[in-house]
Amino acid sequence: METVKVNASKAYDVIIGQKTVALLGKKIKDFFGDVKVCIVTDDTVASLHGEKVQGYLNEENLKNKTFVFPHGEKSKSPEVLFELLEFLAENRFSRKDVLVALGGGVTGDLTGLAAAMYMRGMHLIQIPTTLLAMVDSSVGGKTAVNLKAGKNLAGVFNQPELVLCDLQMLLTLPSEYFADGMAEVIKYGVIADKSLFETVKDGDIARNLEKIVARCVSIKRDIVNEDEFDTGKRQLLNFGHTLAHSIEKMSNFEISHGSAVAMGMLIISEIAWKNGFSDERCQDEIIDALLENNLPITCPFKNSELYYAAENDKKSASGRISIIIPEKIGHCKIMNIALAELKELLE
Ligand SMILES: NC(=O)c1ccc[n+]([C@@H]2O[C@H](COP(=O)([O-])OP(=O)(O)OC[C@H]3O[C@@H](n4cnc5c(N)ncnc54)[C@H](O)[C@@H]3O)[C@@H](O)[C@H]2O)c1
Repeated sequence: METVKVNASKAYDVIIGQKTVALLGKKIKDFFGDVKVCIVTDDTVASLHGEKVQGYLNEENLKNKTFVFPHGEKSKSPEVLFELLEFLAENRFSRKDVLVALGGGVTGDLTGLAAAMYMRGMHLIQIPTTLLAMVDSSVGGKTAVNLKAGKNLAGVFNQPELVLCDLQMLLTLPSEYFADGMAEVIKYGVIADKSLFETVKDGDIARNLEKIVARCVSIKRDIVNEDEFDTGKRQLLNFGHTLAHSIEKMSNFEISHGSAVAMGMLIISEIAWKNGFSDERCQDEIIDALLENNLPITCPFKNSELYYAAENDKKSASGRISIIIPEKIGHCKIMNIALAELKELLE
């Protein structure tokens, strides 16, 4: 078991290992006393893991309810958010009580926002059940729902009080979702850690999973500790993401976040090399890493189409946009450019 300590506006532990979810009831009792707990989860995760998690609360005699919503990105919406808030009110939850986000990034983002909004803030624990949520979305405090105009447009920063990454949860995760998480792991390798990148490129995952998750969380922790509110260094975590958000939106969210990130990383690496922004040619190694981890290396949309979707992205405020450039594997830089320049680069 490994523990990564985050020291943002709130200090909290990310506990990574086998059966860490068994700690849930005891941790809640220690942290908050005799509170009520609302587990928030999607229908798929509810049927696979809901009862077990509820059992850990019952063992400690913690009163609990479960809010279940349909799985998928379309549920990361204002409508489902307000259904959850109404559920909390109907069931008389108070601000002393706890929300437990049990699921992937969709559940974590939605629950994190509800926890910040309900009665101006209740306690939040993240139990990520996808690899993507373990290495990325459950840590760092970004929460959001999507609006019609684009992804993550309505959200707040809200750090959890605890994150429990239970690697056993991943045993039920379909391989395509595991691959989605590997896209984020590859991202961490490219932005901050060549040796992590090499491990992942060689496909040496299962044996090293705990270490890989802990390393990714540590990289994110270091960045978040330095720039919690995303005004500088944190933008590095967006490597591949600006175009990924366009790809997801254009596919009407049929293309998963991880696949879109894979395509976005590759397109931006190619542009960076062609335009002399990179010290080393990174795209061939990135292609190897993506293929080894069952991720796509071609995008169904033209670059020019992606530009128009990116133009509406929240990162394009004031006619400029930050893009993340891989200088070499293990090191990226942030380039703030005019939208017109992005258009040219993409064309
Ligand atoms: N907040 C952040 O910092 C941050 C960072 C990266 C991504 N995100 C967001 O995360 C979301 C993507 O996350 P995701 O890929 O985890 O999506 P997701 O939550 O939709 O989960 C993917 C699918 O896996 C299923 N699932 C989850 N855990 C399972 C398990 N253990 N066994 C079987 N099935 C399981 C879910 O039901 C769902 O159908 C996007 O909305 C993205 O914007 C947020």
